[in-house]
Amino acid sequence: MHERLQAILSEARGEVAAASTKEAVEALRVKYLGKKAEFTNLMKGLKDVAAADRPAVGKAINDTKTEIEAMIEAAAERGKKAADAYDVSFQAKRISFGSKHPLSQVIEEVCAIFKGLGFRVAEGNEIEDEWFNFDALNVPANHTSRDVTDTFYLDLPQRDGYKKLLRCHTSPQQIRIMANEKPPLAVISPGRVYRPDAVDASHLFMFHQIEGFAVQEDLNLSHLKGVLQKFAQEMFGKETQIRFRPSFFPFTEPSAEVDVSCIICKGKGCPVCKRTGWLEVLGCGMIHPNVLKASGIDSEKYKGFAFGMGVERIAMLRYRISDIRMLIENDVKFLEQFYEV
Ligand code: DAH
Repeated sequence: MHERLQAILSEARGEVAAASTKEAVEALRVKYLGKKAEFTNLMKGLKDVAAADRPAVGKAINDTKTEIEAMIEAAAERGKKAADAYDVSFQAKRISFGSKHPLSQVIEEVCAIFKGLGFRVAEGNEIEDEWFNFDALNVPANHTSRDVTDTFYLDLPQRDGYKKLLRCHTSPQQIRIMANEKPPLAVISPGRVYRPDAVDASHLFMFHQIEGFAVQEDLNLSHLKGVLQKFAQEMFGKETQIRFRPSFFPFTEPSAEVDVSCIICKGKGCPVCKRTGWLEVLGCGMIHPNVLKASGIDSEKYKGFAFGMGVERIAMLRYRISDIRMLIENDVKFLEQFYEV
């Protein structure tokens, strides 16, 4: 009997060690511990053993069975752990990562391009006064942009008779820098701007602009055009063309609006560019001598160029966003489409 039990034990040990799947372990459980297992027969045969030997033999059978049970349990447990760690068919939990807001992505990209062209980034103030926002920028006293319907005035103490306001463009940053620093200057300035517009699919009362300008001796329109051509190619693709359309801004002379060849249809004509092949992306010009003078810069010696663009407009064109409100609603389903890869 003793030899028989030893033989079963060593056979079971070998088989359990070799069982590599859950099914194999379960088969061994049936084979060694099930109803038809040899142990069951051995137990049945116990009645034929001499009465005096019966307790010892019974104990030996039970001990062996207990040992095999423990072996099989341990194997099943090992298998479970391995399956937990490596089950490749297991439905993985979705991990959500934070992502940069599309407006931040555009601002960072534009600033990086101009940094590469030698510009430095300097953010301005959102609370300005009439001098910086209008007068120093050569905006006439009766200009409609000064109306309360176009600019948010603030109920704050005035500075030298100039009312405080929320800047309606980033252009005052030109004055801030020019009044405090000496040329040569090349600055890019992103930031929030405010206008009392009714909110709809293309208007918000707070949005973002990026202002850029340079001042040094002998600057001319071709420098401006070269810088903007380079910017357009880096921002929208190597093949992008630009064109200048004559325009008017009080703070630049001459002034132009700049179109880029449509980034969707590459200039062939599509609904986004209204079949013109061109998209308007920014305003620019040579800084008006009055603006240089107002900032204490010798307008005979120095020339400057300036440009300003709307960040929401660029983001909407680039990501084909049809409603500007999506950019401020913070809907995760919208935002998670802008994971940077
Ligand atoms: N400040 C203008 C606006 O808000 C944009 C602009 C146009 C800025 C021409 C400039 C410029 O610097 O030269 O519409």
